[in-house]
Amino acid sequence: MKEIQLHDKKFVPYISKEQIAHAVKKLAREIADNTKEPVVFVVVLKGSYIFAADLAKHYNKEAVFEFYRLKSYEGTETTGKVEILIDIDTKFIKNKNVVVLEDIIDTGNTLEKILEELHKKQPASLKIATLFFKPDAYNKNYPIDFIGMKIPNKFIVGYGLDYDEIGRNLPEIYKLKEPRMIDFVLFGPPGAGKGTQAQILKDKLGLTYIATGDLFRHHIKNQTELGKKAKTYIDRGDLVPDEITIDMIKEIVADPEARGFIFDGFPRTVKQAEVLDELMAEKGLIIDALLSINVPEEKLIKRLLERGKTSGRSDDNEKTIKHRLDLYHSKTEPVKDYYKAQGKFHEIDGVGSIEEVNQRLLNVISNIKLRDE
Ligand code: IMP
Ligand code: MG
Repeated sequence: MKEIQLHDKKFVPYISKEQIAHAVKKLAREIADNTKEPVVFVVVLKGSYIFAADLAKHYNKEAVFEFYRLKSYEGTETTGKVEILIDIDTKFIKNKNVVVLEDIIDTGNTLEKILEELHKKQPASLKIATLFFKPDAYNKNYPIDFIGMKIPNKFIVGYGLDYDEIGRNLPEIYKLKEPRMIDFVLFGPPGAGKGTQAQILKDKLGLTYIATGDLFRHHIKNQTELGKKAKTYIDRGDLVPDEITIDMIKEIVADPEARGFIFDGFPRTVKQAEVLDELMAEKGLIIDALLSINVPEEKLIKRLLERGKTSGRSDDNEKTIKHRLDLYHSKTEPVKDYYKAQGKFHEIDGVGSIEEVNQRLLNVISNIKLRDE
């Protein structure tokens, strides 16, 4: 991933030139179609200078441009105080149809100040257009008439927007790079306690838990295409083929906002482990570790027999349990060697209370050195 450094912080590409150009053209069209002429554009400096220039090229009706200069941000945080550094003479606003051109509306503090000031100058009409809008940060009630693109509450730079005055001349939008989160596979035979431990780790570490069993159920319940395909195999008592499982996992990993994964039930074979590495690499991610929970065979059989009694799962006869464990040893256990070869294998003693085992897992996790993306 092409990352850049501005002052002390790293940024990664976020919104492409094409996406920006599309939003700017759309805004020019919407403003032209929905505003009384002639329009006075109030460009809010400095951030809006590139946006206003590009919008002007696509605005094909009569227009006047005025410039306001305000300041509210310091670093990556809004200060809450908005200062006017360059004002606009009242005669350019009075009885005019005014459209404010903002690069970005975040909390809405700047906007509030602008509207207050412009109202005093008595425009005939007053509308607001912004290229970017952060709905989750906005805490005002003024409706925004024209929005180029809604974005999550993240700090961005480029295309006029700055981080402490630099980055404005980047032709595309970058976002602040977030700290890496661990991505790992939770591994072990049936009955080792993976599901229980994964739930606790997920909550404690704020990770995303991906259990293939849950994935299948989710897709089948929602009757997705993948769910329908998976169901035909499950109904016949067959294993769901790799491609279907992989497509389900691909969907989750593809979400650019999702990060920090615990995989449970995948990879189940060396082939799947290879595919998972490829999938992650495509997203600039990497599996940091395989955490293998170790429980002696006699204990597993006892646990699974217990579980069968209470949950009504089909594990309750010793013969099926032995068969599942054999399958694990022959097909799944070789996955350990795949991660051992990469120096990512960690074994955890799975005998003890849930809290004891969890503490062991947390100890191992806190000692894993995360590779930077
Ligand atoms: P607001 O007053 O909180 O709505 O913030 C508006 C002003 O803060 C914008 O005009 C920008 O100058 C600045 N700002 C808000 N969010 C960002 C961002 O993500 N990157 C860079 N500047 C921002
Ligand atoms: Mg700024």
